Amino acid sequence: MSGLMRGKVVLVTGAARGQGREHVLRMAGEGADVIAVDLCATLPGVAYASSEPTDLDTTVALAEESGQQVVPLVADVRDLAGLRDAVDGAVEKLGRLDAVVANAGICIPSAWDQVTEEIFRDTMDVNVTGTWNTVMATAPHLVTAGGGSIVLMSSSAGLKVQPFMIPYTTSKFAVRGMAKAFAAELARFGIRVNSVHPTGVDTAMGSRAMLTQVAKASMADPRLRGMLVNMQPVEGISVEDVANAVLFLVSDASRHVTAHAMAVDAGVSEF
Ligand SMILES: NC(=O)c1ccc[n+]([C@@H]2O[C@H](COP(=O)([O-])OP(=O)(O)OC[C@H]3O[C@@H](n4cnc5c(N)ncnc54)[C@H](O)[C@@H]3O)[C@@H](O)[C@H]2O)c1
Repeated sequence: MSGLMRGKVVLVTGAARGQGREHVLRMAGEGADVIAVDLCATLPGVAYASSEPTDLDTTVALAEESGQQVVPLVADVRDLAGLRDAVDGAVEKLGRLDAVVANAGICIPSAWDQVTEEIFRDTMDVNVTGTWNTVMATAPHLVTAGGGSIVLMSSSAGLKVQPFMIPYTTSKFAVRGMAKAFAAELARFGIRVNSVHPTGVDTAMGSRAMLTQVAKASMADPRLRGMLVNMQPVEGISVEDVANAVLFLVSDASRHVTAHAMAVDAGVSEF
C-alpha cells in the first residue's frame, strides 16, 4: 500500500462482488474510507446469479481489515430519490466525498431479433439511467469538497461494437458519452470525469453461464464471433487489472486526465 487515497472518501456502486468489491478493497487498502452501494437482490433478465446481502457484508468485512471505515448501502441505482437519501446520510457520517466509481451494471446477450422491449429497457435503466443517477446523487458532494474524480464503468463494448449485445453496447457507448459530457460541465468545479473500458473480466457477469449465452446467440451469425477476440492472447482480464486503472483515475496521479476513455481491454477494441 502506498496511501494514494489517504484521507479521502470514495463511493463505489455494484460493490457487493466482482469488480465493485475489488474497487472497495483497493480504495480502503490505499487509505480511503468507502461508501459501498449495491442492490443485493434479483437482477432483471440476467443469465448469471444475482448478488445477496451477505456478499456486501463480505466486501465490508474484507475492506475493514485495512482499518478504514466502510459504510454499506443497500440501494438501487435506478431510484434517484432513494439513492440521494442514502448517499447524503453516508456522506454526513464520513464527513466528505472525494471520488465516485459508478460501476453497477447488467448484461443480457441476445441475437438482435430476440431482444425484447423489457431487456432493452432494463439494460438502459440500470446501465445508463443508473449511472446518471449515481453522478447526480454524488457530484454535489464533490462540489462541496472543492473537487474530485468520477469514474464511469463502461466496457470495450463502449469503444467497439459487440455483436449479440445491442442493448448493452448501446448503453456502454452512452456511458462513454456521458463521462465526456459531465467532464465538460464539472471541470470548473475541479471535478474530473473519465470512463473505463474493460474487455471480459472474470466475475459473475463474465461467468460460464454468460459465455454460454453469448455462444448461443452467436449461432445466428458465427462470422461475427471474431469481433470478440482480444489482441493479446488472453481469454479475459482480472478484477485487479481494472482496479489498477480505476485507482489511477481517482487518485491525484491523474490530475490532468479528464474526458478520457481508458481501455483496459487487451487490445480487443483495436483488433
Ligand atoms: N465482467 C465483464 O466481463 C465486464 C466487462 C466489461 C465491463 N463490465 C462492467 O463492469 C461493471 C461491473 O461488472 P462485474 O463484472 O463486476 O459484474 P457483477 O454482476 O459481478 O457485479 C455487478 C454488481 O452490480 C450490482 N447491481 C446491478 N444492478 C444494480 C442496481 N440497479 N443498483 C445497485 N447495484 C446494482 C449487482 O448486484 C452486482 O453486485 C458493470 O458495469 C459491467 O457492465 C463487465
